[in-house]
Amino acid sequence: MEMQPVIFAHRGASGTHPENTMAAFYAAVEKGADGIELDVQMTRDGEIVIIHDELVNRTTDGAGAIERMTVEEVKELDAGSWFSSSFKGEKIPTLDEFFTWASGNSLQINIELKTNKVPYHGIEKKVLDLIEHFDMRGRVVISSFNFDSIKRVIELDPYIAVAGLVWKIKRDALARAKDLGLTALHTQASFALSRYGKEAVENGMLLRLYTINEIKEWERIKASGIPVEAIITDYPEVF
Ligand code: G3P
Ligand code: CA
Repeated sequence: MEMQPVIFAHRGASGTHPENTMAAFYAAVEKGADGIELDVQMTRDGEIVIIHDELVNRTTDGAGAIERMTVEEVKELDAGSWFSSSFKGEKIPTLDEFFTWASGNSLQINIELKTNKVPYHGIEKKVLDLIEHFDMRGRVVISSFNFDSIKRVIELDPYIAVAGLVWKIKRDALARAKDLGLTALHTQASFALSRYGKEAVENGMLLRLYTINEIKEWERIKASGIPVEAIITDYPEVF
């Protein structure tokens, strides 16, 4: 039987829209994605905001670190013009705003805690509180490259869906995942196609792959026979 992975729009439909903005999230729905992957960081005054980098420099008209800015300051930034002038005025969304919108649909949601560079003390609890408040438990999976952050999530809520993120071919990924009792890994294709990917699957891990943007690459993965539960792509329309 043909493998039909769940399609997550990576940072929203970020191939055609400014990443991690509401425009990219709306487009993900229009393009038929099953889910959305997004990145969260925390402002100085404790608001959870959706942005990939620790600095606002790359994806806005401002400069500086999210951890040193208030949400009011973050909201002044233009997060669309860097991508195209037609997205001028797009804002960095808060997770609260995203959930308010997502309450009206049934998308799956992958929240990546960007705690691998800045530890953002207390971010895990704040994200879990928002999930609870918006009744999103059944729809979210929380992932992070920082396994200590995942561990804190599990301690706070042993039943929430979590996944470990793996960069390139990390030999100890399976051992670290098993230590935490994880059942899912978000990995690159190179890991999935390596013997470590096979071993992870044999040990009951679900694999979700990022960032798969080309059909040719997906065909290669399918041909390998490695089971893949989901793919995370900048171009949900392609899949
Ligand atoms: O969650 C998968 C992928 O988004 C991880 O890498 O750098 O795109 O956040 P990055
Ligand atoms: Ca991400």
